[in-house]
This record gives sequence, C-alpha cells and structure tokens, in this order.
Amino acid sequence: MPASALMNVMLAAARKAARSLSRDFGEVEHLQISVKGPGNFVTAADHKAEEIIYSELSRARPGYGFIMEERGVVEGADKSHCWIVDPLDGTTNFLHGNPLFSISIGLVREGEFVAGLIYMPILNETYTAEKGKGAFLNDRRIRVAARSRLPEAMIATGIPHLGRPGQKQFIAELDAVMGTVAGIRRTGSAALDLAWTAAGRFDGYWENNIQIWDVAAGIVILREAGGFITDPAGKQVTLETRSFLAGNEAIHNDLKRILKGVPAVSAPEIS
Ligand code: IPD
Ligand code: CA
Ligand code: CA
Ligand code: CA
Repeated sequence: MPASALMNVMLAAARKAARSLSRDFGEVEHLQISVKGPGNFVTAADHKAEEIIYSELSRARPGYGFIMEERGVVEGADKSHCWIVDPLDGTTNFLHGNPLFSISIGLVREGEFVAGLIYMPILNETYTAEKGKGAFLNDRRIRVAARSRLPEAMIATGIPHLGRPGQKQFIAELDAVMGTVAGIRRTGSAALDLAWTAAGRFDGYWENNIQIWDVAAGIVILREAGGFITDPAGKQVTLETRSFLAGNEAIHNDLKRILKGVPAVSAPEIS
C-alpha cells in the first residue's frame, strides 16, 4: 500500500534523523555525552536527531505541537495535533555500539493516538501504522503473534536502570512472570519492544515508569497489528500513563492477572 501524505512526512523526518544517527553510531568517543542522572545519558547524537525531526515536522505541518524527550513541550497554534518524539530510544545501547536503538515518532489528534513510526537505522526496519489502516514492517503487513498460552510465550520488559524508582517492585513482578512464561527479554528500547510485539517477535511486553515518548508510536503500531495495550491494571492509555502492558488479547489478559496479584512493594530502593 503506498504511504499516505502524513506517513511520507514522518518517514522523511525519520530518514533524515537516521542518517545523522548512523553517522554518529560507533563514533562515540567524538560525541559530547551528558549525564542527566544515575544511569541516564544523553549525547549530541540525541540532540542532533531531535532537531532534525523537529525542523522537518514543523516545516511540513506548521502549527502542530510537540512533546519531545530532550527539548520538552512546544505548544503549537493547532491545539488538536501533537507530535510525540523520542529521537533516540535506546541511548545506552547506542553508547555501547549496540544496534538495538530506534527513532520513535507518534501523532496524537484530539487526544487520540493516530499515527506511529518506529525506525531502526542499523537493522533497517521501519514500523508504521495509522489508525484504521493496519501496521507494517517496511512494506509488509504485520500482526501480533497468535500464541495464546504463557508457557509458550516470550515476553519483553524493561529493567529500571541505576537511579530509577521501582527496582524492588520490578523484581517482584519479574519473579511472578518468570515462573509462568517460556522466556523474558530486555532489548533496551521500549519503542522496539512494542514494534517487535506488534510483529509477533515477542508475545507481550510490560514496563513501569517510562515516558509517553517511549511508547506513543508503538501504541498505534501495536493496536493496528491487532494487539492490546493498557496500563498494567487494564486502564486505558492516555498521555499521562507511565506504566504499560501489551500483547495479543490472551497474553495481555493473562499478564494483567499475574501482575495484579503482585503486591505493591514498599521496600526502600536499591542504591
Ligand atoms: C529508554 C528505553 C529503555 C527503557 C528506559 C527508557 P532512552 O529510553 O526506552 O528501553 O527501559 O526506561 O528511558 O532514554 O534510551 O530514550
Ligand atoms: Ca533518555
Ligand atoms: Ca526513550
Ligand atoms: Ca531517547
């Protein structure tokens, strides 16, 4: 199916940013790196890619607002549209020469997630979706996996990094999920986790305390691939949601039940 005008705008911005990221990948010793907090890095590559996406999207759709990881919120004259951008999801992988990183661009219209693009420059995989039009990996239609039993399922998650809240809670959840599924994976890019769940490479995914730019594009791609995404308690996802649970219907339901059974952990954080 030929890409729509909207998707062409998103693709052009992502491709230009991907060229910049690909040039910087493997040149880490020449990149300026800042530490936002423990275990939390940002490089000149993140900033350059974000500026490219910001200027391309602003030029193509003047007036749309933005929520971006590095620059923050930019109000637009058009209050009904907002781009949600993570220019480099998987910065820690990128810094280690690990190719599992992605560009994530989502579009919200009147509060609804309507379009998403996740681009992996090194693996050359582009995941796209618009509400009601299906989800694609490059030009091929994708669907969530049909596996419906946890003992056969491979589940992705995110592990809170150094300095992140919720480490003990995560260990309790891991303990509960680990005993029921075939395997658990951690890629280091939440956008990628959702894209790969949409493509059936993972059967489900959960992660707590992340940001809307990590998942905005993935929400549309996952849903258009036939998947379900809510918060871990099953509540509808909004711009304010910070913890997410995704999968096909059966896996989403079973993981929800398991996670609901994990008591809230009030123990002090690991330091
Ligand atoms: C990170 C990735 C990672 C998730 C972290 C995020 P960043 O984003 O999505 O998978 O576990 O919580 O912060 O900082 O590399 O864009
Ligand atoms: Ca970051
Ligand atoms: Ca991110
Ligand atoms: Ca990022």
